[in-house]
Amino acid sequence: MPKKQTRRMFLKRIFSSLLTLLGLGSGGYIYANRIEPFLLEIVHMDMKHPLIPQSFAGKKIVQFSDTHLGFHYSLQQFKKLAKTINNLGPDIIFFTGDLMDEPNKYSEINQLVPILQSLYAPLGKFCIYGNHDHGGYGSEIYRNVMETAGFQLLLNHSTSISLNNFSRINIIGIDDRMLGKPDIPLALKTVTPDQFNILLSHAPDVASDVSQYPVHWQLSGHSHGGQVKIPFIGPLVIPPFAKVYYEGFYRVGDDESLSLYVNRGIGTTRLPFRFLSKPEITVFTLKPEGN
Ligand SMILES: [Fe+2]
Repeated sequence: MPKKQTRRMFLKRIFSSLLTLLGLGSGGYIYANRIEPFLLEIVHMDMKHPLIPQSFAGKKIVQFSDTHLGFHYSLQQFKKLAKTINNLGPDIIFFTGDLMDEPNKYSEINQLVPILQSLYAPLGKFCIYGNHDHGGYGSEIYRNVMETAGFQLLLNHSTSISLNNFSRINIIGIDDRMLGKPDIPLALKTVTPDQFNILLSHAPDVASDVSQYPVHWQLSGHSHGGQVKIPFIGPLVIPPFAKVYYEGFYRVGDDESLSLYVNRGIGTTRLPFRFLSKPEITVFTLKPEGN
């Protein structure tokens, strides 16, 4: 039996035993396998900072992450998600990595591109690499899919969104920490500290390094919010580089100058379960005021 399969079965067995211990038994198993992965929470957050130009007040950023298409997450589900995102009326869309679970084995790319293309944001769509986007020689596949669909892939690179000649915000994207080569100084090369800087990193735990630089907000995914959380114990498994910051809002750095948000993602990986960690879309509303 392949090693991967054995590990998956082992984890499945552990998860079932834990549910039984908790008195949830097969009901919990069905909930975690067939109900919670199909729920969606839309989290609304203010993105506040005094450096946000007045002309950006009220602009909406929608972040989605970790769809893991091909692993118990279908194109039909993704189509529905795209509709939901468009109905939120985003000005800017961020995808923070892990589009397909195994890009080199994914056979429905032709149908996937038009769905990503249908996502509409007048100020732009931006994305970064996650570990699964690099896995199995997927890097070029992912790049092609995202760029064909109108996303700008930020690989240790930054770009600006301008509303007029005087007001702009900067979007910085770094490579994945697990399977890529993130380079924060290179990504920030053309960025100045007196402008509002948002950095996208698949792995949240790089925030401790990022907080040493003039970055005001970092948005991440990768953790799936733990994916399976056991009451009073916490997440069953969290991946490397999501051990410190695995869900929600944090302030990072000695002076807490970096605001970090970790999105729980949409899909699942390794095990088709979510328990106490619902799929999430985050909507940030820009507010030019105190941090
Ligand atoms: Fe992921």
